Amino acid sequence: MLDSKGFDLWADGYDKSVGLSDEDNTYPFAGYKAILNRIYNTVLARGSAVVCDIGFGTGVLTSRLFDRGCEIWGQDFSEKMLALARAKMPGAHLFQGDFSHGLAAELCGHTYDFIIATYSLHHLTDAEKIAFIGTLKTLLRPDGAILIGDVMFKTRADLTRCRQAAGDEWDDEEIYFVIDELKKSFPDMEFTQISHCGGIMTVKK
Ligand SMILES: C[S@@+](CC[C@H](N)C(=O)[O-])C[C@H]1O[C@@H](n2cnc3c(N)ncnc32)[C@H](O)[C@@H]1O
Repeated sequence: MLDSKGFDLWADGYDKSVGLSDEDNTYPFAGYKAILNRIYNTVLARGSAVVCDIGFGTGVLTSRLFDRGCEIWGQDFSEKMLALARAKMPGAHLFQGDFSHGLAAELCGHTYDFIIATYSLHHLTDAEKIAFIGTLKTLLRPDGAILIGDVMFKTRADLTRCRQAAGDEWDDEEIYFVIDELKKSFPDMEFTQISHCGGIMTVKK
């Protein structure tokens, strides 16, 4: 599992390496741009939304929302990612913090139209995901939603098929979303499959 220093090292080449895997339609980033675009359009349909991004990285998605007038809040533990994102979004409320220890204190006293997390929460165990998403739900505005885009499968069998096809490329340290298993904790959630290994999970207030 990459720690914050590992992500610091990945920060400069991140956008390129993600793009290559997406273009080849291969695990893990097949569908990456489509997932981010769909979240982008969902958020913008609400107008100038207040958005909190968990694990914003280089700000690929949030900087586009920022440019369209959204108020951006967020948390990431990589100093380098934080620096790259801050440069793209002057005035955004971006904080450093490890979400495996919870939400940064600065983000807690506010409510959001959307809480988004793309390709970040697979660093949490399923029990941690459930607890963390439960906390995030309390920070949503009445019509708000949590939009999670990630390596995601409807069933464990779908995950196993992808794992077999990926061979040595498969990352055993990441804990991917299996919707049928998480649905027990979030029965009203919606799932949109975007590629053979990527999708969006929506949890409303
Ligand atoms: C694969 S990148 C995704 C970045 C961006 N959301 C995107 O879709 O391009 C994962 C991001 O999550 C951050 N991250 C991973 N684990 C984290 C943790 N425990 N606490 C805070 N940030 C974390 C990393 O620093 C990195 O910026």
